[in-house]
Amino acid sequence: MIFKSNSKKINISIIGVGYVGTVTGACFAKLGNNVIMVDIDKEKTDKINQGISPIYEKDLDDILANNKDRIRADTSYSFAIKNSDATFVCVGTPLKKDNNIDLSFIETATTAIGRCLKEKDTWHLVVIKSTVLPGTAENFILSLLEKHSGKKAGNEFGLASNPEFLREGIAVKDFLEPDRIVIGFYDDKSRDVLIELYKDFPCPIVKTTLSVAEMIKYVSNCFLATKISFTNEIGNICKKLDIDTDEVFKGVGLDHRINPAFFKSGLGFGGSCFSKDVRALITKAKDIGENAKILQSVIDVNEKQPLKMIELLEKHMSLEGKKIGILGLAFKPNTDDIRDSRAITVVDTLIKNGAKVVAYDPKAMENFKKIFSQIEYVSSAEEVLDTDAVLVATGWEEFEDLDFTDKVVIDGRRIERAEKEAAKYEGVCW
Ligand code: UGA
Repeated sequence: MIFKSNSKKINISIIGVGYVGTVTGACFAKLGNNVIMVDIDKEKTDKINQGISPIYEKDLDDILANNKDRIRADTSYSFAIKNSDATFVCVGTPLKKDNNIDLSFIETATTAIGRCLKEKDTWHLVVIKSTVLPGTAENFILSLLEKHSGKKAGNEFGLASNPEFLREGIAVKDFLEPDRIVIGFYDDKSRDVLIELYKDFPCPIVKTTLSVAEMIKYVSNCFLATKISFTNEIGNICKKLDIDTDEVFKGVGLDHRINPAFFKSGLGFGGSCFSKDVRALITKAKDIGENAKILQSVIDVNEKQPLKMIELLEKHMSLEGKKIGILGLAFKPNTDDIRDSRAITVVDTLIKNGAKVVAYDPKAMENFKKIFSQIEYVSSAEEVLDTDAVLVATGWEEFEDLDFTDKVVIDGRRIERAEKEAAKYEGVCW
């Protein structure tokens, strides 16, 4: 723990033990609160009760195991709501095919919480951590809670929005050492309970309305995604001009108005959030008569970026019948998550062009097999080198130790040794 927490402890329930819910629940328990985690998936709740994380995330197993006495996982909403003072809703909000947000998990969770609140005779706080578009808490969640509980928000129960800014792979650190905490509140009591809960966090606390809090989350992710697509667009120009993109951005980032973070060019952004959130805000804008041109370009640049790798490879060989090695399948290092991974587009294009693909990832091969069962998976990075060309799609640290001598390497993540040693080397943006 990075700071001593003297805040008043409360009993917390967490709905949904995906990546946000598990990290949130485990960290609140680490800070001394009692936590009940609820999920419909009994396999997941059983794991948590054994002190094992249902997801791969650094430090999480240790926290769950060391705080077992304060953590309980259950499939019952009523037990959790009855035995807690505040419920954090952490269910998923996936994107539908029409690029609208699917609120069905939110609706199910909110309805169930509402029904449990009906049976409870003390005040209870409902906190929305799931990413939802501005207006959702006030216009959708609040009325569902009131309808199913028969109670009045702000009086008999509280409502708040407390978005998360966790990065996969370092989510525990991000939770315990945040840049800021955002508390959107409907009623003052909800605000005060959350301020007390987060009292000892050494960072600014933004206290605002529900809708502003919801929008802060979207704008943060949209801005970061914009920064990456901008970096890649400049990177593509730099590559053609034979200019080192990283050096350019080192110089640019020193301007305090700009900041050096998120200037890594390469294959574009993957993961479960950036693309989903940018697309959802574009759709919302359209609904209200606004054309979000910049955000649309962010998506367009990102879709094309992994294809740069294929373009560069084709400068050196035709793909038909070639054995092409892929290093890295996860959407970024230190995770087994392949959602929206850039490697998916790369592998798909290679297969369509008649190449034979040999792939390795330290954590993500099992997940990748669910999409691509037809490619060859090998058990070490070295085996990938025994191919006609090697494409680096994820920047796992262990790839830095490989011997790339005599290889043809197309690098999406700037592996130093590859750049120095490969017989033929192409960086995507450098
Ligand atoms: C992102 C945000 O960073 C979190 O603040 C947010 O809470 C989270 O989404 C979410 O909404 O749940 P995450 O998706 O875990 O977190 O991953 P990031 O570390 O932000 O990376 C996203 C993608 O951008 C990766 O594919 C990464 O390789 C890429 N990236 C990142 C770049 O291409 N260049 C960069 O400079 C930085």
